[in-house]
Amino acid sequence: MLNKIGLIGGGYIGGVLAQEIAMRRLSREVGLADPAPFVNPNDPPERQDVAKKQSVAIGKALDIAEGLPTIRSDVRLVGSKDYSAIAGSELIINTAGVPRKARPDGTFPSREELLATNLRVTNAVAEGIRQNCPDAIIISIANPLDAIVYTLNKRLSPPKNKLMGMAGQLDSGRYCYFVADAANVSVENVNALVLGGHGDTMVPVRSSCMVAGIPVSKFLDDDTLKAIETRTRKAGGEVVGLLGFGSAFVSPAWAALEMAEAIILDKRKILPVCAMLEGEYGVEGMFVGVPAIIGKNGVEQVIELDLTDEEKEAFKHSAGAVRKTCDEVDEMLTKL
Ligand code: LAC
Repeated sequence: MLNKIGLIGGGYIGGVLAQEIAMRRLSREVGLADPAPFVNPNDPPERQDVAKKQSVAIGKALDIAEGLPTIRSDVRLVGSKDYSAIAGSELIINTAGVPRKARPDGTFPSREELLATNLRVTNAVAEGIRQNCPDAIIISIANPLDAIVYTLNKRLSPPKNKLMGMAGQLDSGRYCYFVADAANVSVENVNALVLGGHGDTMVPVRSSCMVAGIPVSKFLDDDTLKAIETRTRKAGGEVVGLLGFGSAFVSPAWAALEMAEAIILDKRKILPVCAMLEGEYGVEGMFVGVPAIIGKNGVEQVIELDLTDEEKEAFKHSAGAVRKTCDEVDEMLTKL
């Protein structure tokens, strides 16, 4: 059990995280920071006064705290509109930023289209971490995933083991779920890795996909697997399109907690995470989704897989797409 976990962002994912941490008793204290609702200076003064008094973070923390006697959990929950709530955290999970949301015509933006808005938010997040818990291990979930992790690294320069993004666990979970469903077997039997960037170029690694240790090709034909892999790459968007009000939030929160538990319990569990690469997979100085041993120090070791030629090519293409977004970050950060 940790002393304190800090959650930045009290939206849908932040809410599930706070609730699950309390239920699983992962830390003695949870700090939840979110500035919402914002005070609009153009609103009439009475409306501004109301918004000043409201707080999604304090409200969600109180809601969960009031349920603690029922679930018999002694976790302390603190919410605030500023970053003071995360002071002293040993682990930070960052979800701050606008999510993808369906437009009235049913279309929705790509994760990359959120970049301009979420970069500004991420600058503030980095400052909040620096002032309140500079030594924390950071798991970031905000989108565009790889570029936000890259930005946090630029702003904070933490030791490379202490900063990682959550995407591969979610994307791999989606791949495994679709395979289990199609093969009509338990999800517990399916293992697979999805690597690369957290965008439409992500790489479901078929050679890693095993059903009870048996290659997936024994259970599903090539056409079915191709369809599953295409669906996996677009799975985040599928949920955005269905929900209408935002993006997936339960499965991303559970995926981040899988990483958090590996750290808190020093499991040394191999999970796909967005980690800093320094030559591995032919990538230099960028965060991309790869399998890594996750333990008490965060990213303990990146594991290099023997990919097929086709998978290698797909990974290279995906890393190229991440590089393009990171170049945009470099350009935008000079103007912020
Ligand atoms: C998704 C978002 C959280 O993939 O990136 O659903």
